[in-house]
Amino acid sequence: MKKPSLLSFLFTLILVAAAVCIQGERVTDTYGFPLSPGEQYFIQPVKTWRNNGGGLVPAAITFPFCPLGITQTLLPYQPGLPVSFSYKQRRPNPPWPIPPVNIPTSYALNIKFESNIWPFCNEFSTLWKFDDSSSAPKEPPILIGGTRQEQNSIFMIESAGEGENTYKLTTFAGTVGAIPGVWFKAPQLVLTNDTAKTLVVKFKRVIDPTTAATSISRAEKQGLRMFPFY
Ligand SMILES: *[C@@H]1O[C@H](CO)[C@@H](O)[C@H](O)[C@H]1NC(C)=O
Repeated sequence: MKKPSLLSFLFTLILVAAAVCIQGERVTDTYGFPLSPGEQYFIQPVKTWRNNGGGLVPAAITFPFCPLGITQTLLPYQPGLPVSFSYKQRRPNPPWPIPPVNIPTSYALNIKFESNIWPFCNEFSTLWKFDDSSSAPKEPPILIGGTRQEQNSIFMIESAGEGENTYKLTTFAGTVGAIPGVWFKAPQLVLTNDTAKTLVVKFKRVIDPTTAATSISRAEKQGLRMFPFY
């Protein structure tokens, strides 16, 4: 009779410890509310060389055009295309015995562009990945077409320390940064170890549940174009 109660005591202790961890490190959106898996967010760069540029969108970065890369849209004040975050594994990473309700920093995630219309390169998934092929440049591009369980499709959110609710995205092979892309130097996402290139972002929730459908399809129209400049 003693064993189960000791076990359940330990289990409770772990849960409490986990809850405390999550309290201390949870990621927040632009409004300061915790980020949740399954919700949709616009990823908005805080400062790049494009003053008043918009959010992140899939865009052609090479010829041939597929797979697509990711750039900041040059259209000012466009929110970009929404993404959602999901946990990499069914069994969560230590020290979490259960999947956390809100997304903590340093937690292995998949990032996915959310769209019901995906007219081009649709043989690829809409998951983010980084180019880990042997032909990848030194600062490999972030691409669309990831695979849930692969290392190249795992991203983590870390605090950027550039003001409230600012974050950066990291991977096992470097931090997500921005370099001038092929189309009018629109900031293009790559992996880098150069902290000067780190992309600082905020997560803006696609909020209003009553108008979400229309605002998402509007965002889709604006975000889902092959190039970042129209
Ligand atoms: C960053 O540095 C790590 C450790 O030296 C290295 O393994 C990785 O390839 C580097 N990534 C980039 C994008 O330069």
